[in-house]
Amino acid sequence: DWVMGDYIAEAVEAIRAQVGSDDVILGLSGGVDSSVAAALIHRAIGDQLTCVFVDHGLLRLNEGDMVMDMFARNLGVKVIRVDAVDDFMGKLAGVSDPEQKRKIIGKEFVEVFQAESKKLVSAKWLAQGTIYPDVIESAGKGKKGAHTIKSHHNVGGLPEDMHLKLLEPLRELFKDEVRELGVALGLPREMVYRHPFPGPGLGVRILGEVTLKAANLLQRADAIFIDELRATVATERDVAAGACTEADVGKTWYDLTSQAFAVFLPVKSVGVMGDGRTYENVVALRAVVTSDFMTAHWAHLPYELLGRVSNRIINEVRGLNRVVYDVSGKPPATIEWE
Ligand code: XMP
Repeated sequence: DWVMGDYIAEAVEAIRAQVGSDDVILGLSGGVDSSVAAALIHRAIGDQLTCVFVDHGLLRLNEGDMVMDMFARNLGVKVIRVDAVDDFMGKLAGVSDPEQKRKIIGKEFVEVFQAESKKLVSAKWLAQGTIYPDVIESAGKGKKGAHTIKSHHNVGGLPEDMHLKLLEPLRELFKDEVRELGVALGLPREMVYRHPFPGPGLGVRILGEVTLKAANLLQRADAIFIDELRATVATERDVAAGACTEADVGKTWYDLTSQAFAVFLPVKSVGVMGDGRTYENVVALRAVVTSDFMTAHWAHLPYELLGRVSNRIINEVRGLNRVVYDVSGKPPATIEWE
């Protein structure tokens, strides 16, 4: 629509005026904000932008390939993909404390990103997908106790010791405006309206020690869950069962939940398969409905949907033999398990 078209034209002009002929680097996480920032800056300055995508192995299934397809292949953005899986796994070996894991992932991320950025000697600017609520939140740091419950780490890099100037073209936008902008810039709607994903990724969804094996099992279980949520629409039966309202009929369960994911539990339980006994790990499914993520209800997903997800996970992911559903609200539970 023309309003967004005008906005893009203005934003493009502003970015060009700000950076001139300088080169810009941006840490692409696969999240909505950094993706929209990348698409906008690329629209403004093309090849003066280089994106760095750090693959730490704790992303959603095939996330790395998806990011490369979307940006490098479809939009022609310069993206350097850094395979840092071994680095991260090495640093995380033997660590099971949740806050410790967050710190390690955050620190390692900054180190890998900086090392890569330093190779781009011509870069004068560091672009970040900071949006208006982030600006407000960091201005209020220290005042609100809630944020210290978990140390939130966000992908982005530290400008201070990099001697780069900050470029933050989304600073004045709210999340819904960022999404609209993303669609207008040609990013797939499905990507732009994705559920949020935490900076430390699967690192906080693999309870206890993070291993590559657990990450692999979890990625596959999670992909099945998300697949089924996207493929299942709410029906009159769900309304009758009290799971949703009349207005929700026809929408997918993915759109009817605010965040949904699988959690790997470092617990084994006994199962049977054919004539044999299995002794394998348990995954928990978590799906919540919330408007602000400060409080949340567990989602009343239809039993048929949960049953299908459970069957598929157990049949398709060797190494998992039991699926449980989390029925805890926030508070007292948090949305993530760590
Ligand atoms: P909790 O678990 O605190 O999560 O109820 C609230 C929202 O924040 C996300 N979350 C994080 N995001 N870094 C992030 O970028 C983090 O360390 C982190 N921890 C939680 C969580 O996914 C949910 O959307």
